[in-house]
Amino acid sequence: MKKTWSIILTISLVFVFALAGCSSSSSTGGDSGKKAGKEKPGKATLDIFSWWTGAGEEDGLKALIELFKEKHPDVKIENAAVAGGAGTNAKAVLASRMQGNDPPATFQVHGGAELNEGWVAAGKMETLDDLYVQEGWSDKFPKELIDLVSKDGHIYSVPVNIHRGNVLWYNKKIFAENNLEAPKTFDDFFKVADALKAKGITPLALGDKEPWTATHLFEDVLLGMLGADNYKKLWTGDIPFDDPKVKEAAETFKKMLSYVNDDHSSRNWQDASQLVGTGEAAMNVMGDWAKGYFSNDLKLKANEDFGWIATPGTDGLFMVITDTFGLPKGVKNPNDVKKWLSVLGSVEGQDKFNLLKGSIPARIDADKSKYDVYGQQTIEEFKTAGLTPSLAHGSAAAEGFLTKVNQAVNIFVTQQKVDQFVDSLKAASSELKK
Ligand code: GAL
Repeated sequence: MKKTWSIILTISLVFVFALAGCSSSSSTGGDSGKKAGKEKPGKATLDIFSWWTGAGEEDGLKALIELFKEKHPDVKIENAAVAGGAGTNAKAVLASRMQGNDPPATFQVHGGAELNEGWVAAGKMETLDDLYVQEGWSDKFPKELIDLVSKDGHIYSVPVNIHRGNVLWYNKKIFAENNLEAPKTFDDFFKVADALKAKGITPLALGDKEPWTATHLFEDVLLGMLGADNYKKLWTGDIPFDDPKVKEAAETFKKMLSYVNDDHSSRNWQDASQLVGTGEAAMNVMGDWAKGYFSNDLKLKANEDFGWIATPGTDGLFMVITDTFGLPKGVKNPNDVKKWLSVLGSVEGQDKFNLLKGSIPARIDADKSKYDVYGQQTIEEFKTAGLTPSLAHGSAAAEGFLTKVNQAVNIFVTQQKVDQFVDSLKAASSELKK
């Protein structure tokens, strides 16, 4: 009897190990192996993880994937995007995959603290120094950008774009009909907003169903009120969050919120941009992925249907957001990942992507003439502007702080208590790396 049981046990174990062996031929370690378990060794899937799905978001990624397929038809590729602006859902999915040692082959990550204090500090990323040498990239990206994707002298990801965060978009027809000029200062903004309100037009569109959009607006208010130097001091702890300047910025933010659409909490960023595009609201503060949405989805023309200006008080400044991709440790197909990175870091790849995404190419040798009037102007402005890191999009501070700020901002938008808001920011700032 005993012997029979031991035979059954042995057979079962052999079966279990056979299954385990099968799943280990997947693209990545751990659980994802089960999904790609039928892959032959060497034919692992290159799963590209991002949050670019839907209107205004996915066109650039799809174009880049098509280019990659043309160049590498032998590599099996999977678009593993998880919906939700600014990585609202994707970042949580990514965190659990990374913790479970089941990384995607490559993933979207913002240059700056999100990459360096997050995945690099946790020892989860391979360096890409060799790839940069092989591709001759060290002088092809602006130094500031290479710094954003480097830690302790090593490079960890490849920037596919540069987005500008401090943009105020406006409906040209509404402004022309009401003899208004795009506001340069906060005083201008409130004058324009009052004039619009008096005409029954919603001055400012907001869609904070995903709270990051309100954080995005707040960081632009902080930049406009504090100026670049003081804004940067917030992230080093040289200016505390209970500084009177931050309180003043919070008051201004609160005043701006009194001009937004009533249904802001049920809209996402596209729904808010749409209000401006269709003339139901006059202005919207959003990164220039909104340009991709206006052009690709709403079929609007830059400088005819919609106009833009730096958000109040930020003329000459550029809130930098860079989407980058890297090589996580432990993936089964690092060479395929490097092929992907080479394509997205090439001039051709950057143009395919950025012409549709609304951003400008990260490479300095891309062909400016291919871009529309917004793109060309932004390429020029980036060269001379004062560059500042975005909080809402991962450059200024690590994820732990940002999560708490998003919560505090979300509460502030409903309760509008300035002191309580400033206290929460101050409490959250203990998360900042000094
Ligand atoms: C940002 C990202 C952009 C855009 C935006 C809205 O964080 O850098 O590429 O996707 O979110 O989802």
